[in-house]
Amino acid sequence: MLQKINETAAYLRSRMTTQPRVGIILGTGLGNLATRITDRMEIPYGEIPNFPISTVEGHSGKLIFGKLGDVDILAMQGRFHFYEGYEMKQVTFPVRVMKAIGIDTLFVSNASGGVNPDYEIGDLMIITDHINLFPEHPLRGKNYNELGPRFPEMSAAYDHKLIEQAKEIAAKNNIRVVEGVYVGTQGPTFETPAEYHYFRAIGGDAVGMSTVPEVIVARHAGMRVFGMSIITDLGVPGKIVEVSHEEVQEIGNRAQPLMTLIMTELIKKTN
Ligand code: HPA
Repeated sequence: MLQKINETAAYLRSRMTTQPRVGIILGTGLGNLATRITDRMEIPYGEIPNFPISTVEGHSGKLIFGKLGDVDILAMQGRFHFYEGYEMKQVTFPVRVMKAIGIDTLFVSNASGGVNPDYEIGDLMIITDHINLFPEHPLRGKNYNELGPRFPEMSAAYDHKLIEQAKEIAAKNNIRVVEGVYVGTQGPTFETPAEYHYFRAIGGDAVGMSTVPEVIVARHAGMRVFGMSIITDLGVPGKIVEVSHEEVQEIGNRAQPLMTLIMTELIKKTN
């Protein structure tokens, strides 16, 4: 694994003309942030040695180097989900590579189903913590001390200062945000009512099929993390209706501009 990371990092370094410290995983809700990136240099995943190939429809997998405002960034357009059949080491490989080329702060977004009864469809949730229910752990197996500790600490996985700054930005722009615990589960089924009830009972506010593996690896590597989720449907008793991938994308798209605004302003503050 170390050799693969180094190989991929060396390839990217040979093509990079900037030295970004900010990485962004453009999940549902941040797709249009990609259009704000200036001074772009794009590398399709297919050209990158050792990179998995993205399979989900509507995601053209590529890395985008460029600027948001004055800040050099590296964005991943298209992430790898466990439900697609990737191993956890593949799902999280891009985060390893990001770290290896000098990125120390990671921004992530996703869509999720709200299980907190106070939530509304279309709400933006700042992720304050997570519960990992994936059936495989990205750090299972041999630990490489060069990458991080055997038993990583997770008491503040989501950076408190970034959370505070995001709330200030939202307040200043009159954007409603909620804060909550993201439950990461493997999918690809959406939940039964009993499962939504269970996720609420164990302390979750929203449930989704991504993010947790990447965040675990980012924290293992000592990166700062900030995450936001768009609540695209509700797993709340009395409010549960049939949900589809199309609907999740459609509601995600509608909430995008506000999430993009918060993320963009927050990223500008990292300079
Ligand atoms: N469950 C799991 N993942 C999701 C959901 C959901 O209800 N909505 C969007 N992603």
